[in-house]
Amino acid sequence: MTTRNIAVIGSSGAIGKALTQQLAASFTEASIYTFSRYKATRQQQLPGTQCIHTVIDYDNESSIQAAAATAASNCPLDMVIVATGMLYDDLLMPEKSLNDLSAEKFVRLFAVNSILPAILAKHFIPALNKQGRSLFAALSARVGSISDNALGGWYAYRASKAALNMIIKNAAIETKRRNKAAIVVGLHPGTVDSHLSKPFQANVPEHRLFTPDFSAQKLVQVLTGLTSQSSGKCFAWDGREIAP
Ligand SMILES: NC(=O)c1ccc[n+]([C@@H]2O[C@H](COP(=O)([O-])OP(=O)(O)OC[C@H]3O[C@@H](n4cnc5c(N)ncnc54)[C@H](OP(=O)(O)O)[C@@H]3O)[C@@H](O)[C@H]2O)c1
Repeated sequence: MTTRNIAVIGSSGAIGKALTQQLAASFTEASIYTFSRYKATRQQQLPGTQCIHTVIDYDNESSIQAAAATAASNCPLDMVIVATGMLYDDLLMPEKSLNDLSAEKFVRLFAVNSILPAILAKHFIPALNKQGRSLFAALSARVGSISDNALGGWYAYRASKAALNMIIKNAAIETKRRNKAAIVVGLHPGTVDSHLSKPFQANVPEHRLFTPDFSAQKLVQVLTGLTSQSSGKCFAWDGREIAP
C-alpha cells in the first residue's frame, strides 16, 4: 500500500521537524501536511511542493477540525503524527515532591499532553484511509508507563502521558470497529536533544541522548513495521513495546 498523504502536527518542535524531513525522504511520493502554532521557517520548508504548511490554534477546536479537513481535502490520510507535548515552561517546572504540586501545573500539562492529542484524534482519525493500512501515532513518553516508574517525580507530566496512553488505547478500540486496518499507537522517541529535554540532560549519558534526526529515523522504521496487532500500544524508538 503506498503512503500518499501524511499529516504532522507540532511540526516546529525538534522531533516534529525531524520526523517531517524523515517522512519526506522515506515517502517521496507523499504529500505532507504540517501544522504548528507558527508559520514555517525557511529551515522547515522542504524543497518542492511536498510539504504544505498551515498554522493551527491548539486552543480552538474549530481550527483543529479545519486542519483535519485541509489535510484530507485531496485524499484520505495514510499517516497522522502528533508531535506536540510539553514538560515545562517559564512558570512551571516538573515536580520533585508532593510539595511542588499545584492544580495549575496539572491543568496546563493535561491540556497540552492529554487533551490536545485527544481532540486531534477526534478530528484526524475519521480522516484516515479506510481502503488499507493507515496510522495515527502520538508522541508519548516512557515515563507515562505506570509499571516502569521506578524513580517517581514529574507528577503532572507522567500522569498526563499515562492519560494519553489510555486515550490511545480507547481510540484504538473504537477505531477498530470502523476502520479495521487503522493502527493507533503511542511512541517514545528516546531522550532527544530538544528544547523540552534541555534542562534535564546533565545526567543523561552521551550515547543515550539522541539527535532529533536519529530518533526520527528510528521512529519511522518503527511506524513502518507496525501491524493491526500493534494498535492501542506504546512503542519505543527501538521498536520495543512499553508496558502500560
Ligand atoms: N525530547 C525528549 O527527550 C522526549 C522524551 C520523551 C518524549 N518526548 C515527547 O516528544 C514530543 C516532542 O518533544 P520535542 O522534544 O520535540 O520537544 P520540543 O522541541 O519542545 O517540541 C514541542 C512540540 O510541542 C508543541 N508545544 C510546545 N509547547 C506547547 C504548548 N504550550 N501548547 C501546545 N503545544 C505545544 C510544539 O508545537 P508547535 O510545532 O505548534 O510549536 C512543538 O511541536 C513531546 O510529546 C514530548 O513529550 C520527548
